[in-house]
Formats: sequence, structure tokens, C-alpha cells
Amino acid sequence: MDKFLINGPCKIKGNVSISGSKNASLPILAATLLFDKPVVIKNLPRVRDINTMLNLLKSLGSKIILSRDKKTAKIINKKNMKTFASYSLVKTMRGSILVLGPLISKYHKSKISLPGGCLIGARPVNYHLTALKKLGMKYELKDGYILAKSKGKLSGTTINFPKISVGATENSIIAACLAKGKTILKNCAIEPEIKDLTNFLNKAGAKIKWKGRVCKIIGVNSLNQTEYSVMADRIMAGTFCIAACLNQGSLEIKNLNPKIINSELNLLKKVGARIKTTENKILIKGPKKIKSIKNIKTKEFPGVATDLQSQLMVLMCKANGKSTITENIFENRFMHVAELRRLGAKINVKKNQAIIRGVNKFVAAPLISSDLRGSIALVLAAISAEGTSRVDRIYHLDRGAENFENKLKKIGVKIKRLK
Ligand code: UD1
Repeated sequence: MDKFLINGPCKIKGNVSISGSKNASLPILAATLLFDKPVVIKNLPRVRDINTMLNLLKSLGSKIILSRDKKTAKIINKKNMKTFASYSLVKTMRGSILVLGPLISKYHKSKISLPGGCLIGARPVNYHLTALKKLGMKYELKDGYILAKSKGKLSGTTINFPKISVGATENSIIAACLAKGKTILKNCAIEPEIKDLTNFLNKAGAKIKWKGRVCKIIGVNSLNQTEYSVMADRIMAGTFCIAACLNQGSLEIKNLNPKIINSELNLLKKVGARIKTTENKILIKGPKKIKSIKNIKTKEFPGVATDLQSQLMVLMCKANGKSTITENIFENRFMHVAELRRLGAKINVKKNQAIIRGVNKFVAAPLISSDLRGSIALVLAAISAEGTSRVDRIYHLDRGAENFENKLKKIGVKIKRLK
């Protein structure tokens, strides 16, 4: 199993270019199942979850031609696509559930493995199933699979999500594109990745409009041949901003619209960072003394992203004084806490709140990753620790952070991958 050796503390300086967003690419790739004509998707990140989704599409019958740098995929669907998504593919990535909506909408049947829970929480798919049922899908759960079908086309309707869910919003939007008539989705997630999905679908001829958390979709018969470039990864951009704050670093972060991480940048300003933004760039200088923040709370967009919670916790560990972080999205997203304590962090967890007392220094230790974002946080922690830390099980990180160690090397981090 691959691991990182990181020799800290490192001062971060230079510039970094942000790659395409994994969380935007996954629903966009799933939505290509709706197309009869070829689709070209550009700016895909080269990470394992994208390979998994491309393999899933291939297993359903899509022909995929990748560019030499593997960032552009031309996807051509067969006339008769398969509709079976096996456990072996779905178990490695919960995002696989996003093929259910398009398969039902276009092919009117699907057998797809139920994704299991994962370490950060139970993560059920009940909102996906209830919404698709309202659109006309019938389903039963059998032997760990969702057996779903519909009598021909789905029919537009009004759906009010009981809780905001990124995946359920995406699955429903994709399914409604080819449904009969008008669908109105209320209480939608409005993460920028979802707007990227609807920009892509609209470019191909879908009729989707937004007003706040309400999404209106008028069904069309088919989608047009199209090319689309995926948005930049705001979570990786936020991660690099936090890295710059850890040890008075200075970074130019290129290739993304800073507006999509506005809440997080405001937090970093409170921490003491000096930040300048242009249309597609962030210039950030870390503070001399990191200020603590009393009530960081993760929230659905436009709130602070849960996917940046563990990285922000590393920063608060190095702050002057006491901070608190409340995790409002997932019930068990504090697995990184035990590992941070091994470096010297002082963190108490009460239910979904972490109370953090800043410490002057971290001392290197062996660390084990347990989930994607948590493992990124451990790398940040190791960068700010004195001595050589080993971060184990970085296959979690490889699911979603493109070329992470090379980007870090370029900006001054002493990091080595051991195979
Ligand atoms: C997506 C992101 C993930 C991010 C999360 C929240 C992708 C591939 N993943 O995950 O990185 O952390 O949004 O921003 O884009 N829930 C249910 N029933 C459902 C669906 C969700 O109870 O049917 C719960 C979940 O367990 C969780 C909350 O609702 O507690 C929000 O989950 P959701 O927004 O659906 O997250 P994902 O789409 O899985």
C-alpha cells in the first residue's frame, strides 16, 4: 500500500493550478448515459473515482476514447446499453448511484447494487429513491440490489426534498431531463458542482432553470452532441489556501473562480490571512499568528463545506486559543481527530462538535488515513509537524486529489511516495 513520507515543517511558497472537480465530473459523466450522440468532457481530474466512473460507463456499453493526458473523454453510447451496475464496481464509490437516474430515464430499467455505508456515516440513498419514484420509477430492494423499472418515459412532477442532498438533487435533475412535461424540484442542494451539471445539460439542449433552491426542468426528447469543460475543484483550492495559512506561506492559486469558495475565504481572513482575488486567481499570505475561531459550522453551500472540515481543523490546531468546529452534514466525520492527537493536537469531541485548543507545534508521528478528505488533512498536519511523518493508506487520497504530491513538491513540501 502506498504511503507518504513528509519532512516538516515546510514553508509553502509559489503557485499551483487547480484541476477539474471530481464532484462535478461524476454527475456529468453519469449524465452522459442520457445521450445518443457523442459527448466530449474536458478537464477531468486524473483520480481514481473518475476511472471508476469511466469503468462503470464502459461496463454499461459506452465507448470511451481518452486523450493522451487522460483529461478529456469522448463518450459514445451504443444503441442497446446494458443497465446492470455490479456490486464490485459500486462498492468502491458511492457516487455510482448517480447512474440510476439516467438509466431509468433513458432505458426504463436498471439493476444497481445498493452502495454500502462508509466511514464518515451511514449515507443512505432513500432521498434518491423517493424522488425517482415520484417521477414514475418502481423499485424493490433484493439481495443488496435496487431493481428498478418504469413504464416508458418518466413523468414530470413536483418534488420537495425533506433534506438538502447533493446526490439526490443531481440524480433527480438528470432523470427529469428526458421526462414528460415539467418537473419542479424544491429544497435542492445548490452546490457549484450541481450548477456545473445543469450548465452542461443546458448546453446539450436540456431545459433547466434555477430560482434559489428551486429547480425547474422541462423534459426534452433528446440531448445534442456537445463538448463541455468541467469546473475547477473548489475543495482542492480551499485545501491549498489552508496549506498556505499553516506556516506563513504565500501562494498564488490559479484556474478557479474564487467566488465558489467565498465562505471559506472569509473564514481564512478571520484567521488572519491576507487574500486578494481576481476573476480566476487567489493570492493568499498566511498570518504570523493564526487566530482561533469560536464557531466554525459546516453547512450546505453557500455555507462552509464539510469536505474542508478536517483541513480547517488542522489549521485551528495551530491557532492561538480555543476554537470549535461543528459538523452538520455527516454524523461521523471526525476520524482524523485521533490521528491529529498523535501529533500533539488537543481536541475534545462532544457529539458533532470538536473543541480545539491551539498548540504551538506538532511533532512528527506515523499516521493512518481513513477517508479522502481526512487523509488530505493528515498530509497538511504532517507538513506543519517537526520531523518526518509517515502517512499510510493514501489510496483514500488517490480517489480524489490529482497529482497531489507533485503539486506540493513544487511549492516547497518535502514529500515522497513509498510504494
Ligand atoms: C456529496 C459529495 C461529498 C460531500 C457531500 C456533502 C459527491 C460525489 N460527493 O456527497 O463529497 O461531502 O455531498 O456536501 O459529490 N442523505 C440521506 N439520504 C439520502 C441522501 C443523503 O440521509 O438519500 C444524508 C447523508 O447521509 C448526509 C446528508 O444527507 O448526512 C447529505 O448528503 P448528500 O448531500 O447527499 O451527500 P452526497 O451526495 O453523498
